[in-house]
Amino acid sequence: MLDQQPGYRTPARMFHWGIAVAVLLMIPAGLVMTREGLDRGLQDALFVFHKNLGVLLIPVILARLAYRLRHRPPPLPETVPAWQRRIAGLSHAALYLLLIVMPLSGFVRVRAGGFPIELLDFLGVGPWLAKSEPLADSAKLLHATAAALLIALLALHVAAALHHALFLRDGVWSRMWPPRPSG
Ligand code: HEM
Ligand code: HEM
Repeated sequence: MLDQQPGYRTPARMFHWGIAVAVLLMIPAGLVMTREGLDRGLQDALFVFHKNLGVLLIPVILARLAYRLRHRPPPLPETVPAWQRRIAGLSHAALYLLLIVMPLSGFVRVRAGGFPIELLDFLGVGPWLAKSEPLADSAKLLHATAAALLIALLALHVAAALHHALFLRDGVWSRMWPPRPSG
């Protein structure tokens, strides 16, 4: 039966939903904090939140990638056509790539711009990058471009997931939900 198909293992589900919640907080924080005319106190608080949660995510994302490279996902139900498997594979690879590009370009943008990252400064970690306006500008452009791609891809990703959950009901949704297998 479809609902007896094997799903993702517990660590894969916990990585997926933990990082999903964080990314769904990072995106609106990033979009709001860069708006002109925003209250200065709120803007500062959002910048601190965004930069520090962002650098905390880097080791978690690297751990997820390392886990993913050692654990292949379970096979999709046979009802999923070949072209959809290909698109799912490509879009998941693109999501992983963007999960790396986003925090790294953010880090370079901030450090090359000569700005603080409070958590790293508190821990006594050096800036690692010399101040450079051209590098900061390129990283800023990359960060904003990758953010737009990520938002578009996530819209497709969530639409596809909900389509499987609500209309196809083919077991794809329960491969990833709940965050832990119920047993
Ligand atoms: C917001 C950040 C999110 C990111 C970065 C993300 C990323 C990913 C990635 C990379 C995979 C592939 C896992 C693998 O094979 O290694 C995946 C699978 C999945 N995601 Fe997300 N996701 C996010 C949010 C969501 C949301 C909000 C939903 C549901 C509404 C969702 C539903 C699913 C489902 C059902 C799968 C399993 C697909 C399958 O069985 O092949 N994701 N996600
Ligand atoms: C998964 C991680 C991240 C996501 C999803 C993310 C997302 C975003 C988004 C959507 C924006 C608004 C883009 C725009 O409209 O210009 C933004 C801006 C920004 N982000 Fe991130 N970000 C992440 C990680 C980081 C990290 C780790 C840092 C720094 C340590 C950072 C620093 C910044 C800065 C400084 C801006 C404002 C850029 C500017 O206009 O100067 N981000 N981010």
